[in-house]
Amino acid sequence: MFNEEFQLDAPIRWGMVGGGRGSEIGYSHRAAAQRDRLFTFVAAALDLDAERGRDFGTKLGLVPERCYPDYKTLFAEEAKREDGIQAVSIATPNSTHYEIAKAALEAGLHVICEKPATIHVEDALELKALAEKQNKMLAVMYGYTGFQMVHQAREMVRRGDIGAVRVIQMSFAHGFHNTEIEKNSPGAKWRMNPEVSGPSFIIGDCGTHPFYMAGMITGLKVKSLMCSRQSFIESRAPLEDNAHVVFQFEGGAVGTLWASAINSGSMHQQKVRIVGEKASLEWWDEYPNQLRYEVQGEPVRILERGMGYLHNDDPGVSANRQGGGHAEGFFESWANLYHRYALAIDAYNRDDKAFLESHWYPDIDGGIDGVKMVNACVKSADNGAVWVDYD
Ligand code: NAI
Repeated sequence: MFNEEFQLDAPIRWGMVGGGRGSEIGYSHRAAAQRDRLFTFVAAALDLDAERGRDFGTKLGLVPERCYPDYKTLFAEEAKREDGIQAVSIATPNSTHYEIAKAALEAGLHVICEKPATIHVEDALELKALAEKQNKMLAVMYGYTGFQMVHQAREMVRRGDIGAVRVIQMSFAHGFHNTEIEKNSPGAKWRMNPEVSGPSFIIGDCGTHPFYMAGMITGLKVKSLMCSRQSFIESRAPLEDNAHVVFQFEGGAVGTLWASAINSGSMHQQKVRIVGEKASLEWWDEYPNQLRYEVQGEPVRILERGMGYLHNDDPGVSANRQGGGHAEGFFESWANLYHRYALAIDAYNRDDKAFLESHWYPDIDGGIDGVKMVNACVKSADNGAVWVDYD
């Protein structure tokens, strides 16, 4: 079972940039960070609208003087306090991640940044180098990778349960933008603006999730890719609302990714299917407590979270907050990740390199990989769906 005993000397003083009132993802960060009492929410610059941010912050329990009008003031003022923030989460639109994460690292903070980490690959590489120089954690919020059955899939691949990986099928194809909803939704509007979203909409917004997850499960690196992308809602061009990507991985495996916002009727369709030489695994985020295990020539097995037959010596697999049969979900996955971030931050503070080497969490390397994938897809698609080298 998940260990809820307090494992730090003191909770980490934590702040947020973005995630203001009505934002899509702000609550998820706050709920996950505070779930296990490892982070205490003490300061923020929550909103582009400073007054609204202050009002919201105080209603979340912050004292008014620690609800700052912008991230620069947040970092500068908190640095003057003995009890200033030690870590910050960045939940703002994509184009702002780089400058905010850079300023946070320069201010000596540990950082949890939303995906896609940056717009440009060079910026993500620069952030990685800066985090190393400052000896600070730089995590990227691939929030679906805290699920136990995703870790079970990774362990099964590692232990050879399915044999060498041959094919990876990835999708994140929902239907929520099958009409021009951005006309009435600020959160959708910036996603269709290349200045804010970056050179891609749905590949960056959703495709990066299963792409990161598949890499985490299999450990495989992309060699080359080919992408076709479309804007079925024409006003979204040049950004795509639908894309298909074909991958060649180092070592001979191949794969596909379908990223879509116009898959009418679909809720998420976030699936990762790993085909090995002996068996296949399939995980679907709408049924996150189950993992399909299909051995050639045998009946399909549905593995269930919380059961003794899983690879429970892996802490990611056994991180059950409740026994099997009870549904765990999105918030548990996020809380599991924030738990891992807290332990990583503590290890950074103690300079415990041995712990950090053995401790997994979605870090900036996964962030860099996602930005690389997005940019390679755009290059391929905009040159007529040609093969492009990944590196
Ligand atoms: P949103 O548009 O719903 O909310 C953005 C919030 O940030 C608003 O409160 C806005 O006022 C604030 N903001 C914008 N610029 C700011 C700045 N410079 N300083 C302070 N506050 C600022 O956006 P949403 O959907 O919450 O997305 C935010 C980020 O989270 C995006 O990068 C997105 O890709 C990512 N995201 C990640 C998800 C995941 O599963 N990991 C799910 C949804 C979004």
